[in-house]
Amino acid sequence: MSADAQKRLAAEAAVEKVEAGTIIGVGSGSTVNHFIDALAASDIEIEAAVAASEASAERLRGHGIEVRDANSVSELAIYVDGADEINRHLQMIKGGGGALTREKIVAAIADRFICIVDASKQVTALGDFPLPVEVIPMARSHVARQLVRLGGRPELREGFATDNGNVILDVRALDLSEPIHREQQLNDIAGVVTNGLFALRPADELLVGTDTGVQRFT
Ligand code: A5P
Repeated sequence: MSADAQKRLAAEAAVEKVEAGTIIGVGSGSTVNHFIDALAASDIEIEAAVAASEASAERLRGHGIEVRDANSVSELAIYVDGADEINRHLQMIKGGGGALTREKIVAAIADRFICIVDASKQVTALGDFPLPVEVIPMARSHVARQLVRLGGRPELREGFATDNGNVILDVRALDLSEPIHREQQLNDIAGVVTNGLFALRPADELLVGTDTGVQRFT
């Protein structure tokens, strides 16, 4: 089975977690695209969604699903999103698509974070995937120097701007064996908007699409 087929399986399993009449948070990426399509094809009618990217908002609207601004809601029943890597504590690296800041915001508003992935995303240790760090453009060089001091090898994501108008540094070689500490430490660098570690707020439930069906972890 292809990775894409596994993503679709996980996405369809997440649709079963959605309650009619609720407002939900929707992340971004190819797995989430499957979730949006499967939700639209189901008979579950939600009140509205808050989207973590312009691309997801557009896809939701294309299916006739109302999209609300994050500032207009005080809580979300669930947040459904993919990940670039996820460990057994359900801590993640996210931001491969560059939507990490809005993803972290929408996840923070939600009661439950349901992560949907194909089997390749499960790892024993985070860090093979370069860690995305969203940075205010004028702080790019300063932040890069601080990341090097911490042992990382940052690389500017060329030709890319986030939905917030910032740049992304993709960082290799950082020790992520203590993800909570590292997430806090990176947040403390002046000019960093968000880093792609989701350890302070891990997922509550993980649905993994595999060749033999969906595996669920909490
Ligand atoms: C987007 O910024 C990321 O956090 C995505 O959640 C992540 O890249 C997963 O993407 P796919 O679902 O396309 O694998």
